Amino acid sequence: MQEHDVIIVGGGLAGCRAALEIKRTDPSLDVALVAKTHPIRSHSVAAQGGMAATLKNVDAEDSWEAHAFDTVKGSDYLADQDAVEILTREAPDVVIDLEHMGVLFSRLSDGRIAQRAFGGHSHNRTCYAADKTGHAILHELVNNLRHNGVRIYEEWYVMQLILEDAQAKGVVMFNILNTKLLVIRAKAVMFATGGYGRVYNTTSNDYASTGDGLAMSAVAGVPLEDMEFVQFHPTGLYPVGVLISEAVRGEGAYLINSEGDRFMANYAPSRMELAPRDITSRAITREIRAGRGIHPDGSAGGTFVYLDLRHMGKEKIMSRVPFCWEEAHRLLGIDAVHQPMPVRPTIHYSMGGIPVNTDGQVRSGVDGLIESFFAAGEAACVSVHGANRLGSNSLLECIVYGRRTGKAIAQYVQNRKLPEINEQSYLSAAQEQINALLNQSGTIRLNSLRQTFQDCMTEYCGVFRSQELMQEGLNQLQQLRQQYQQIYLDDKGSCWNSEIIEALELRSLMIVGEIILTSALNRTESRGAHCREDYSERDDANFLKHTLAYYSPAGIDLNYLPVSITMFEPLERKY
Ligand code: FUM
Repeated sequence: MQEHDVIIVGGGLAGCRAALEIKRTDPSLDVALVAKTHPIRSHSVAAQGGMAATLKNVDAEDSWEAHAFDTVKGSDYLADQDAVEILTREAPDVVIDLEHMGVLFSRLSDGRIAQRAFGGHSHNRTCYAADKTGHAILHELVNNLRHNGVRIYEEWYVMQLILEDAQAKGVVMFNILNTKLLVIRAKAVMFATGGYGRVYNTTSNDYASTGDGLAMSAVAGVPLEDMEFVQFHPTGLYPVGVLISEAVRGEGAYLINSEGDRFMANYAPSRMELAPRDITSRAITREIRAGRGIHPDGSAGGTFVYLDLRHMGKEKIMSRVPFCWEEAHRLLGIDAVHQPMPVRPTIHYSMGGIPVNTDGQVRSGVDGLIESFFAAGEAACVSVHGANRLGSNSLLECIVYGRRTGKAIAQYVQNRKLPEINEQSYLSAAQEQINALLNQSGTIRLNSLRQTFQDCMTEYCGVFRSQELMQEGLNQLQQLRQQYQQIYLDDKGSCWNSEIIEALELRSLMIVGEIILTSALNRTESRGAHCREDYSERDDANFLKHTLAYYSPAGIDLNYLPVSITMFEPLERKY
């Protein structure tokens, strides 16, 4: 059995930042990071628009308090305000720290870090590296990991969290290259496994965003928090769904319907295209439903609207958002300097996740913590985003809470012993699971079941929801779960067998989908991204609380956790 002081699962920004902090705090600690892709291919690399922080380089009137208020209001008052205070107070410091590590932020003419407008933020506070901010930060962090001696297991798929007697002890993992299994024990385990965009059929997320860490935690008995809050990014490029950054609107682009109107005037007159994402995604969906969407031939009644950059001019487009221009050009042949881009909402982000305190330690329920288990980033719910995240707060969360969690872990493991694990029993169970998949003689192709599942989630748990729709989705999901027993794999080999991984990922997706639907059905109100047509109002009297969902194959139990309100009393949310 392999052993390390700390094992971090996930090679994106939160995992890398935590690993670095552990080594900075105590260089003698043996830290390993496991990633199912090469770390620089983690989904964080695709983050485009930027990272919010009140540096005040562009707007001297800005303050951490204003950032905190915007974040809480954006969250529809469900965010935990103690966690938001930490996020916004520490933001300037973590940006400067990244800068000192070598991250190449875009600059103002006087050399200071540039800051742009972003949805739901009252000041220009988003720091950026053109529209490749995640790329700039992740590359620098991964370089720093290597300098600091973090052991990287790349292209290993973690199959199981070893959790016994409310203590995380290690993981069971599968080498994608040769199908070999390995148990690692550690004094602390951290999950930074990202989101689950692939639960849906159209997403801005990477193929690897399959919610594995969430599903593994749920199967091990850890509750998942606020999973009903699924973020649609307003501007996915039609029809593929890849991200066209909010930075494009931050730099001045318009949203236009089939009548040529900037329709956001009817939904958020004070913020227009820079309203928060839940409001903008609903506005686009309503325009499309009302027949003011656009067809590919330009006629009315279609399923997208236009994102119009033409008035911005070539120089601004090419210097501020060159990657978005390139995406539209490469994928659709559109030159955004002269033509509008077709866009519509695409699944982008999970507000919910593994519940953690502000040191990243995982909660076991309403009271209590799980020993030796930590989480941060999109996989975690601390909760700084509540019911709706503001753009450019997620890179910030990864770095602030990655750093805090790393520091907490470095202190936690001091003087702790490695746990005892029955390695053989875990290896045998994992091998049996793999053999069962390889030997299953079903009739259903993996891809077709995955597609049916993704279509089901998209149809029954989308931008607008109702009891009737979601119950139908849940019924269909129960049937699809049975069909999982009838899938078959074409590839029976032991070299780079990606079908095994896809089968394990599909299991994760289905568990996460069921938790999303069940949590959403039980929240009989509309709040942030959770918009119910049968309960159209926010209901603070009954639902100003976080959902905790406990999974078991027999069903999902729900409990609720109070919201921390320390600064701002809930108000009506208007823009
Ligand atoms: O639109 C974007 O560039 C995405 C940013 C974010 O999700 O924070």
